[in-house]
Amino acid sequence: MTQKSYKIAVIPGDGIGIEVVAEGLKVLEAACKAEGVSYETVQFDIGGERYLRTGETLPESILEELKGFDAIYFGAIGHPDVPPGVLERGVLLKIRFALDLFVNLRPVKLYRGVECPLKDKTPDDIDFIVVRENTEDVYALDGTAFQPNTDNEVAIQPAIYTRKGTERIIRFAFELAHKRAVDKNKSLKVTLVDKANVMTVGHGLWRRVFEEVAKEFPEVETEALYVDAAAMEFLLHPERFQVVVTTNLFGDILTDLGAAIQGGIGIAPSGNINPGKVSMFEPVHGSAPTIAGKGLACPLAAILTAAMMMEHLGETKVAQRIESAVEKALQTGKIRSLEAGKMGLSTKEVGNLVASFV
Ligand code: IPM
Ligand code: MN
Repeated sequence: MTQKSYKIAVIPGDGIGIEVVAEGLKVLEAACKAEGVSYETVQFDIGGERYLRTGETLPESILEELKGFDAIYFGAIGHPDVPPGVLERGVLLKIRFALDLFVNLRPVKLYRGVECPLKDKTPDDIDFIVVRENTEDVYALDGTAFQPNTDNEVAIQPAIYTRKGTERIIRFAFELAHKRAVDKNKSLKVTLVDKANVMTVGHGLWRRVFEEVAKEFPEVETEALYVDAAAMEFLLHPERFQVVVTTNLFGDILTDLGAAIQGGIGIAPSGNINPGKVSMFEPVHGSAPTIAGKGLACPLAAILTAAMMMEHLGETKVAQRIESAVEKALQTGKIRSLEAGKMGLSTKEVGNLVASFV
């Protein structure tokens, strides 16, 4: 049997994306070599610099090309000279929509050796995953402005929820609960987070679909929380969560909170997934232009993102090897903090340290 060689598209993007992706690729290479997994990468020049040079965000030809890869490994986009929204909508959201990456998977896991900002919480308390819907909500529509910049200005920023879109993400969450029960011995529980007490139409749909799908999984414990209460619970009782399923915007906000309780945005990975299809993996953090190019950024999020990518491709051993190398690196105590500039090591040194444990 000839061995499969994966084709991975790499989009380092802007700012610290470039530095952290380099470390992620370093660790990926070591792990794939150790497991005898082969792959090739193609780098794409996408991001703020390209936009400023050419006026292009993501050319259609590149979008088409991306569809021919097994996965996309993404750094970050966002450039201080480009107005907000241009690159976000033109690159990141465009890929999410074009590839129908309806799942945004964001693990919230406190690793041993990482300082938790929550008093008395340990790695046993913080190990859950947020399943963020990724193609609907306020992200899917452009708003409408009437008489902008006048006293009569009206701004309409609508959100959309479809039954199909709601059902597929909720079903994914239940299936994931089962997978985590098998793989990680987790208890079978799914928490829905919404604002059904105010967004009675849109999130009313979410509630109904959640209850319908839950009936197919009677063995799974379920609960529904309003997002305000959920935010509080993330801080007070993170141990109550196993799988959290939520809407796009709430998921965006809650996963920054999630990143904070797992020790910081520097260690939070994510995957934009369409099961079985080409999917895109990116750290939760952005391009952080103020610290870019100085070796101050923590590459652990990007490194763990590479692990998620390999897990998605079915290369569980590679994924585990990367994750356990991160765990070992953290346990050396050499990484003093995950906060940019306070690590006590440079971005590259952290990458080297992790690679040395692969
Ligand atoms: C994220 C980011 C994006 C989002 C932005 C950059 C569009 O915050 O991936 O969490 O809101 O989804
Ligand atoms: Mn975000």
